Amino acid sequence: MIKIIYGKTAHDAGVNGADVITSVLKNKKNAVLGLATGSSPIGMYKELIARCASGEISFADVKSVNLDEYVGLSADHDQSYAYFMHDNLFNHVDIKEENTNLPNGLAKDPAAECARYDAVVASMGGVDIQVLGIGNNGHIGFNEPAAAFSKGTGLVDLTDSTIDANARFFASRDEVPTQALSMGVGQIMNADSILLLAMGKGKAEILEKSLFGDVTPAVPASILQFFKGDVYVCADEDALSVIMEKHPEAVSK
Ligand code: GLP
Repeated sequence: MIKIIYGKTAHDAGVNGADVITSVLKNKKNAVLGLATGSSPIGMYKELIARCASGEISFADVKSVNLDEYVGLSADHDQSYAYFMHDNLFNHVDIKEENTNLPNGLAKDPAAECARYDAVVASMGGVDIQVLGIGNNGHIGFNEPAAAFSKGTGLVDLTDSTIDANARFFASRDEVPTQALSMGVGQIMNADSILLLAMGKGKAEILEKSLFGDVTPAVPASILQFFKGDVYVCADEDALSVIMEKHPEAVSK
């Protein structure tokens, strides 16, 4: 079931997301978290760091698998997703480094790396909650609009719209990697529950289309309508603006 949780500001939506993760961690100390990058989860990670510092939650027994990584960026490149995760979460909580996992963007043989990562994800014995952002074109992880939904981890070509959107983090557009390794939509759908974070006006149309429109690989996030468990959507008022207009009854405040 899709549960749309309203937050007035991005900060409020991040706190709502942190509440969802907190309840998972309180029920299961050794939960497996599927983690995501992008600007949308940053506020939630800040809140989780504060809750860890206060002793409310602990990551000591948590394992994590991240969705994706750019091809060609090393873990110490400041735009790699490995760097992002350390900077925005891992370095500030009690998670053990050896319990954190991301695809290796520098792998010489991407197919072998995808197979390795599939095995890593499988070895977790199930992801308790998968955090997702949503791309402007409806991508989840780096699963871009396509003719079919992807199953396992794959090497993906980024679309121009994604490269444009992510160029803001790099010195120039030319520096944005054109490929990534991403967990597949099938793997994402295997999680026990999902937490989708969306912030800002730019996500309002695609969020409505994904959650209420046709289910199609042309809008990868639309598959969440078929998710077997709970999908928590924590979004701010701007990102929810189209949904609140067209489906006000679907939003819980
Ligand atoms: C990137 C990531 C996605 C993320 C999306 C949206 O391309 N691969 O996992 O959800 O962008 O990012 P943001 O939250 O910054 O809008």
